[in-house]
Amino acid sequence: MSLALDPAAQDLLFREARTANTFSAEPVTEEQIRAVYDLVKYGPTAFNQSPLRVVLVRSAEARERLVPLMSEGNRPKTATAPLVAILAADNEFHEELPRLFPHYPQAKDFFTERPVREGAAALNAALQAGYFIVGVRAAGLAAGPMTGFDPAGVQKEFLDDDHTPLMIVNIGRPGENAWFPRSPRLAYEDVVTTV
Ligand SMILES: Cc1cc2nc3c(=O)[nH]c(=O)nc-3n(C[C@H](O)[C@H](O)[C@H](O)COP(=O)(O)O)c2cc1C
Repeated sequence: MSLALDPAAQDLLFREARTANTFSAEPVTEEQIRAVYDLVKYGPTAFNQSPLRVVLVRSAEARERLVPLMSEGNRPKTATAPLVAILAADNEFHEELPRLFPHYPQAKDFFTERPVREGAAALNAALQAGYFIVGVRAAGLAAGPMTGFDPAGVQKEFLDDDHTPLMIVNIGRPGENAWFPRSPRLAYEDVVTTV
């Protein structure tokens, strides 16, 4: 009763949503991913930095380059998921700040040093990656996020020096035996303190 969100939506986004390890062959369309992005782009970031960048791996040729860069246990699902997305942080996000934070264009000046930008980009793009996963679930699809990959290799093959790969996400409808038993979560009392 304390949540405003419809109980069916709560289940879709969290209680019944699982991290899929196998996928059906049903394709994931451009329209679905566009709808996901057009929803989750409203998730907040510091100074509205919005540093997340997404590379959709659609061609067979690109998939062949990606799979060997995954850790061994992640290869079969990355090879067979209908769609794979590389989520990256744009370390040059500050160039967009005058447009993205127009009421305070000086915000760009806080980010003249690259290490400061990299820290901000990593935090805020990771936040956006979380929004992206929930957005995939909102489309009725399952996400399989993975950090088990060779980051230098993925950066070299698919990105450039200004973009740091954060996470790779398999996307699709779950296939057979798609998940392990649900693992326990920490209780409220384990996590929350009040001062
Ligand atoms: C950032 C991130 C990285 C992950 N990396 C991997 C991975 O490399 N390989 C893998 O099989 N699962 C990976 N997972 C899946 C998690 O183990 C899984 O989401 C978690 O245990 C919750 O599972 P559930 O959604 O089925 O409850 C990752 C999940 C996240 C969010």
